[in-house]
Amino acid sequence: MRRFFVNDALHEAPDDNENLLEVMRRSLGLRAAARGCNDGTCGSCRVLIDGEVVHACSRTTGSIAEHARVVSYEHIAQREPVVAALSFFDRERSTRCKLCVAGLGVTACALASARAAGVTMSTDAAVGTAACMCTGRGSWRRALAVV
Ligand code: FES
Repeated sequence: MRRFFVNDALHEAPDDNENLLEVMRRSLGLRAAARGCNDGTCGSCRVLIDGEVVHACSRTTGSIAEHARVVSYEHIAQREPVVAALSFFDRERSTRCKLCVAGLGVTACALASARAAGVTMSTDAAVGTAACMCTGRGSWRRALAVV
C-alpha cells in the first residue's frame, strides 16, 4: 500500500506496480496528462511530484515516496505562468492535437516556481526532451520563454 496526495487529496494505491499515468487517468479521472511516446521522452504525461517535473508514464506508484504530493495540470491550469505559456502556444497555433498541452503547462509551472525560488533554470533545461508532436521542440521553447 502506498499513500500519496494527488492534487491535495490522499490517494491509496494498493499495488506498487501500477503505472502512475494510468492511475491518474483511469482511477482518478485526471485525463489532462496524456500518453504520447510512453518512454519518458515527449513530455505529454508530465506531472509534478513534490515540485519536480516527472514523466508519469515512466513511474510506478511504488516509486512515489509515502505522502509525496503529485500535482497534475488540472490543479495548476489557472496559474498565471501556465496561462501565459499556453496562450502563447495557442497564438502560435501549436495546439493542434493538444496532446502535450498539460505537459507544457506543468513545465511552465515548475519553471516559474524555480525562478521564484531563486533557482537558475534555463528554458532549454525545462524543456528537456519534451516536444510538441505537431510543431516540434521549438514551440515549447518559445512558449516557455514567456514564463
Ligand atoms: S508519454 Fe510520457 S514522456 Fe511521452
